[in-house]
Amino acid sequence: MDDRPIGIFDSGIGGLTVFSEIIKALPSENIIYLGDTKQFPYGNKSKKTIIDITKENINFLIKKNVKLIVIACGTATSQALEEVKDKYNIPIIGIIKPTVMYLAKEKNIRKIGIMATAGTIRSNSWEKEIKKLMPNAKVINKACPLLAPMVEEGWTDNEIARLVIKEYVKVFKEETVDSLILGCTHYPLLKNLIQEELGNKVKIIDTGKQVGKFLEELLHKEKINGKPKNIPNYKFYLTEIEEGFIKVANNLIPNTIDNINFSKK
Ligand code: DGL
Repeated sequence: MDDRPIGIFDSGIGGLTVFSEIIKALPSENIIYLGDTKQFPYGNKSKKTIIDITKENINFLIKKNVKLIVIACGTATSQALEEVKDKYNIPIIGIIKPTVMYLAKEKNIRKIGIMATAGTIRSNSWEKEIKKLMPNAKVINKACPLLAPMVEEGWTDNEIARLVIKEYVKVFKEETVDSLILGCTHYPLLKNLIQEELGNKVKIIDTGKQVGKFLEELLHKEKINGKPKNIPNYKFYLTEIEEGFIKVANNLIPNTIDNINFSKK
């Protein structure tokens, strides 16, 4: 048993879509969430910068005495996880492997669309992981650099969001994908609009649920579960004041955030 919190980080509010699933899968675990709003967006930064930022975030969370870290960010998972995962003495996981493990078990998934930030698409990490487990799958990648800033701005259900999404998903319609991975953790907040645009035949896969399941198994395997029936303690840190954060958080995880701490890391 291990009562230390789980650490989660993202560039902003996107990681809350993963947080919201983790607390469903593991309702007794204490969690510390870091939203690196000061350095948002990660999506257009170089690999080197993403690795540096990821290390900073990991060091911050380790100082808070976490037992495990979830990189709840596609951009940092795709470009930094391999670099950092064996350099610390606690487990560090990302969002790609758990999601692809789930995909590989699904039947009838052959043509997979991936929407993600420019950095994630440039790294080709999703496609590489998919090809390992599903060598015959066809993958169609699309960088969508405007989406995470739109979500951070709270534009998740307006005409501009609709138009931008229409443009980005064109290629998936042309290619008639059977499934679409939301490869950036901000995008589940746009899921309704994306589904509307693509129609119901396309299965939309977001990463949070899979990360939740994966984490549950990992805690068990490593024997680091928290106390059962613990009333969890959630702590939120942002690196810059972000008006939109609380608004989005209150919709996604009502009554969960009472106060936000600010940190320079
Ligand atoms: N939520 C992030 C991701 O999953 C980062 C978006 C950004 O900061 O550009 O990629």
